Amino acid sequence: MKAVHTPEMESSSAVHMDDAEFERWVRLLESRTGVTVPPERKPFLVTGLRRRMREIGHSAFGTYYEELLDGARGAVEWAALVDHLTVHETHFFRHLPSLELIRDEWLPHWLASTPADQSLHALSVGCSTGEEAYSIAMVLDAALSQLVPPRHFGITAADVSQSALAVAKRAVYPGDRLAEIPRPYQAEAIEPEPGGQFRVSARIRKRVGFACVNLLHAARAPLRKLDLIYCQNVLIYFARDRRGELLDGLARLLRPDGLMVLGPGEVTGWSHPQLLRYGGRQTLAFLRKPQETQA
Ligand SMILES: C[S@@+](CC[C@H](N)C(=O)[O-])C[C@H]1O[C@@H](n2cnc3c(N)ncnc32)[C@H](O)[C@@H]1O
Repeated sequence: MKAVHTPEMESSSAVHMDDAEFERWVRLLESRTGVTVPPERKPFLVTGLRRRMREIGHSAFGTYYEELLDGARGAVEWAALVDHLTVHETHFFRHLPSLELIRDEWLPHWLASTPADQSLHALSVGCSTGEEAYSIAMVLDAALSQLVPPRHFGITAADVSQSALAVAKRAVYPGDRLAEIPRPYQAEAIEPEPGGQFRVSARIRKRVGFACVNLLHAARAPLRKLDLIYCQNVLIYFARDRRGELLDGLARLLRPDGLMVLGPGEVTGWSHPQLLRYGGRQTLAFLRKPQETQA
């Protein structure tokens, strides 16, 4: 049933957000993005909403809510709002042990168990402004390009936020972020830009394609079968009971001997009949069983 908003309600909801209003915004956000907002994060939700409402001249949560449900116009505005309500914090080489696991343990295994002409396809889910996908590309490029013959690879980097993806595609970052990239990778992966900024090199950029994909629908997205899925600092924003379902969907996209890398501690108690826990305690990763051992 559609909620009815009187002028009195509007003026009070412009000043503060009561519990009922908060709950319907939480439900909307959760049903459309999967992201859950617990009561202690209400200030984050309210601040994000107010910022966006100010930008477009809305003063009341109620009318703004109605606008978001309004057909195509609402869909366009929803995409803009999502940028204000999602956390985009990220770094290059954010979780080094995970990248080392890929480079030192999984990659040798994958190379030994796949035909020499098979290319590697990876997915970075919740890639934000691109640093994660470019870090994976730097690691894979350094490891695979020196092989004779070299193995090809490509990365699809997906996020629900259009503004984060725009930054990712541009691949230009402030100079102080350079320190996040280990020196051995910098020579091949970085090009200086005016104003002390740097750009990820064309060599690395051409390996990464960006797509606006909602993790809730990732299992249904037209993605090819994957060898590597990297999903860190995204599931933490989803309700606990939903995380398992999402991981089941991602697991279906993995090829035999493929690896799914999550952030340590991001899920507990999840398992999958076709996946084996992989790597040590510093990481949280799962290997899809080789073809012959699959039931
Ligand atoms: C905190 S950032 C993490 C970035 C990167 N994975 C890392 O670990 O540095 C979380 C990202 O997840 C994205 N996100 C949130 N909900 C999503 C969804 N339903 N589908 C796809 N991406 C989502 C946000 O837009 C944001 O860019």
